[in-house]
Amino acid sequence: MHFSILTIFPQFFSALDCSLVGKAQERGIIRVDVHNLRDWTSDVHHSVDDVPYGGGAGMVMRPQVWAAAVDSVRGAGKAVLAVPSPAGKPLRQNDLLRLSRARQIIIACGRYEGIDSRVTQYYAQQRDLEVFEYSLGDYVLNGGEVAAVALVEGVSRLLPKMVGNPDSLTEESHGAEGILEYPIYTRPAVFRGIRVPEVLTSGNHGAVERWRRDEALRKTCRRRPDLIQNLSCARLGARDLEVLAEYGWFAGPGEARLCKTEFGKADFAGPGEARPGSLPAFSQMCASAADLGAQYVYTAVYEGKTVACAFVSAAGECVSPKNGEDGHSPACVLQPVFDPAWDTDRFRVGFTARSVHALRSEAENLAYSCLYLRVEKGNRDLQRYYRSLGFRQVRGIFPAAVSGNEGNHIAGGRGKTDITMVFPLSVE
Ligand code: ADE
Repeated sequence: MHFSILTIFPQFFSALDCSLVGKAQERGIIRVDVHNLRDWTSDVHHSVDDVPYGGGAGMVMRPQVWAAAVDSVRGAGKAVLAVPSPAGKPLRQNDLLRLSRARQIIIACGRYEGIDSRVTQYYAQQRDLEVFEYSLGDYVLNGGEVAAVALVEGVSRLLPKMVGNPDSLTEESHGAEGILEYPIYTRPAVFRGIRVPEVLTSGNHGAVERWRRDEALRKTCRRRPDLIQNLSCARLGARDLEVLAEYGWFAGPGEARLCKTEFGKADFAGPGEARPGSLPAFSQMCASAADLGAQYVYTAVYEGKTVACAFVSAAGECVSPKNGEDGHSPACVLQPVFDPAWDTDRFRVGFTARSVHALRSEAENLAYSCLYLRVEKGNRDLQRYYRSLGFRQVRGIFPAAVSGNEGNHIAGGRGKTDITMVFPLSVE
């Protein structure tokens, strides 16, 4: 890989003689040539800038000087002309990966107000040259030099033989998973009163892996919701959906992408009280929920429209699902209704997990110790998902143990094709 850097501050790039990039130069993995742009000026003052056409503040870099410099450093074959600019495309790990396959990268470091626009326009028309205008972020630096160093370092570390342990490349933030890296710790186990998360010292590799993934997802939800939006639902498991649901992210229509919804709870005093938006089955559901004495409704609202409701009704006494012993304890029924466009297994899992989580945190107030839910008999995938959330199947449709509730009339009609699953709400 050959980097050719064009700048009016060549001394800036001594930074590239340090660390791994410096070593890569010594080992011949990369070659970095730094050129002074003023070498291509022809006037006595070696001027590289001029006043802007159309007026305005600041100076613009002259196109003839740039073109002469680029033509002169460009070698044979395919190359990239990388131009740092606050108006460029935000630089991403994917761009670095693509650039790491180039033979030569020429980096044009502009100063002042920037380079005359005809320079990139002209080179974009040339064969075997990709023009890549990139930005380090939404802020303005004095020139492109810092961004040039970033590009050289970011590309170099992806080259074969550069990083000792290639696994560290796949596990890092902005790696293949598309989420931020999990929090990391080293010794001591307690630092200034803060202990490392216990699971990391447990020796349970499966639990460590799961914890890391949970924390990586949570961190990404908090800091970079834009990355969550780009995740592909097909690659998310039930536990992932459960974690994402904590932050209001659910699989959207078609299960292609995640959508940020507002999850909320309302007292359910009757059909008029809850605001269901456009849910078609809602009025029927409200009626039966009111009959059953639904206490609460959880809702997910997306772009002002309610896309799901979950009614919580008291279901009388049940045999404790934990030990199956005599102990009868109060149970409730969760009855979700979905907008047809959102009614997919992945959305059901996320929304149910979130509702259960909410119920669980109120379990003490409500004094419910278990929760019933119906699932279609033939939908094995959904049953598997629910099992991984901690539900398990019980016999019958809302079993006889749930008193005052004959099953079928809860959701109406689908009794024979449904099974009942139960989830313990409080841990005694
Ligand atoms: N030059 C000035 N500001 C810049 C930025 N944010 N990114 C890349 N190059 C720049």
